[in-house]
Amino acid sequence: MRLALLGTGTMGAGMARAMHRAGLDVTVWNRTPAKAEPLAGEGIEVADSVTAAVTGADAVVTMLFDTGAVLGVTDEITAALGPDTVWLQSSTVGIHGIQRIAEKASGAPLLDAPVLGTKKPAEDGNLVALVSGPDDLIDRARPVLEAVATKTVVAGPKIGQASALKLACNAWILSITAATAQSVALATRLGLPGELFLGAIDGGPANSPYAQLKARAMLAGDFTASFGLDGGRKDLDLITEAAWEAGVGTALLDGVRAVFDAAAAKGHGEDDIAAVYTALSGD
Ligand SMILES: NC(=O)c1ccc[n+]([C@@H]2O[C@H](COP(=O)([O-])OP(=O)(O)OC[C@H]3O[C@@H](n4cnc5c(N)ncnc54)[C@H](OP(=O)(O)O)[C@@H]3O)[C@@H](O)[C@H]2O)c1
Repeated sequence: MRLALLGTGTMGAGMARAMHRAGLDVTVWNRTPAKAEPLAGEGIEVADSVTAAVTGADAVVTMLFDTGAVLGVTDEITAALGPDTVWLQSSTVGIHGIQRIAEKASGAPLLDAPVLGTKKPAEDGNLVALVSGPDDLIDRARPVLEAVATKTVVAGPKIGQASALKLACNAWILSITAATAQSVALATRLGLPGELFLGAIDGGPANSPYAQLKARAMLAGDFTASFGLDGGRKDLDLITEAAWEAGVGTALLDGVRAVFDAAAAKGHGEDDIAAVYTALSGD
């Protein structure tokens, strides 16, 4: 299967490697060519245009920053798509975003296919794929989904359903990251080693491997980006808009957004979401 992956950022580069390891014939394109170049030495073809990457591909994956980035390449993708190609739109674009992309790509064989997981799971092919769209397209996309994910959750037959599930999942991830920062800051400022909080929840029903991972990064002050803080703020906008439109209260989201914004104002926008700790630690 020949696959074109557009966007070799934190997630896309790892996904391209996982797809290549799974035996797919992978061509990538990135807006900034230098960021795709390292993949060329690993047996992955680097194309110099969207058209060159997509032409002749059986499947196309978009893994770009936001809706605007995907809309910016949509015409070029649709012009180069073959009759049996399937397009998996995996960037986090929210419910309105995927609808706008579907409208612009009208008639294209599009799947709403966001993913859960960060840099390491992407590299390891251990993401969770969320997908919605017509069954026949999902079947055609299976080799791609199996290459990048250990589990695929089918959210329904309609474009937008997988993005809705992705928003619910990211509300959870961003909220527990902020909650972890709050508890680590509390323990530390109350004169305890932050590790005591981790040890106390470990093994109990309130434990979370994600909280353990992010708390260790907070305590070490290691904010190397796996899930960039500005990306988290972009997602909080999408989640808050969806919650507001659905009549879901946004008080918790507003608080999470406030601490993410405060960390960005301290210069941590390009760091990992663990840097939200800097907004609460009192340092
Ligand atoms: N990181 C995570 O943990 C995670 C997990 C699940 C889903 N996601 C979602 O996956 C997507 C990619 O995330 P990421 O962490 O890989 O982000 P990233 O490292 O910031 O990479 C963003 C990618 O989008 C490209 N891009 C940005 N604006 C563009 C534009 N206007 N036109 C064309 N290309 C553009 C960038 O190209 P350049 O190199 O030229 O800037 C880069 O390839 C986002 O929608 C994110 O929300 C992220």
